[in-house]
Amino acid sequence: MKNIFITATNTNVGKTYTTLKLLHTLHDKGYKVGAYKPIETGVDGVPVDASLLLQTCQELNPDFKVITVNDICPIQLSLPAAPYVASCGKTIDFDKITESYKKIKNYCDILIIEGAGGLLVPVLKDFYIIDFIKLFDAHALLVTHDKLGSINETLLSLEALKSRNISHNWCINHFDDTEEFEKITLPFYQDYFAKIFSLQNNLDELTQELITNCNRNGDS
Ligand code: GTP
Ligand code: MG
Repeated sequence: MKNIFITATNTNVGKTYTTLKLLHTLHDKGYKVGAYKPIETGVDGVPVDASLLLQTCQELNPDFKVITVNDICPIQLSLPAAPYVASCGKTIDFDKITESYKKIKNYCDILIIEGAGGLLVPVLKDFYIIDFIKLFDAHALLVTHDKLGSINETLLSLEALKSRNISHNWCINHFDDTEEFEKITLPFYQDYFAKIFSLQNNLDELTQELITNCNRNGDS
């Protein structure tokens, strides 16, 4: 079964929020869930995202009691910036990432991996967040916001996934009230996409779709 990689059109769109929701829905469907965040930046002491992920995994999957926050997030950088910049000229240790990934995989049957920022955030000069999706043999879930500008950001991110033959779904995170979204954005999505998923309207259906796609072999 493939892993699920959570990405978004930008930082602060709701990747952690989505990951936490999916951990619960997958747990409710009987899966032993796990989460992983290979790199977190803007860390001042304790990594906020990784701590939330660990806490929820430990609540839902007792096997995760042996996992530490440094296992969930092996690379923690203080500057709130793209990993390439936040690493301040030092090489990011991919051996550390692979080791903690392998450890975590032993304790769950489905693993949700949270990226950092959006898809083309640089990690190394020639390695971007999007490259983690294939490295971890994952199916991607793109989370988009619902404000003005989201159509463009959604389509650009979907282009990046399609051009690399990465299997994916996308979903909307409706932060506030959806009236404005229905007026200025939804008409395009309705004409363009056969199915629209959102965390607020059809999370269960989205979870089922993700499970089906993670069980499929091959890319796209
Ligand atoms: P980074 O990992 O920092 O790139 O951000 P992210 O994409 O993981 O976003 P995150 O899930 O942390 O959401 C950003 C902020 O918005 C957090 O403070 C969340 O609690 C909040 N948030 C996210 N989604 C929702 C939502 O649907 N409703 C509300 N009220 N708050 C939300
Ligand atoms: Mg996050």
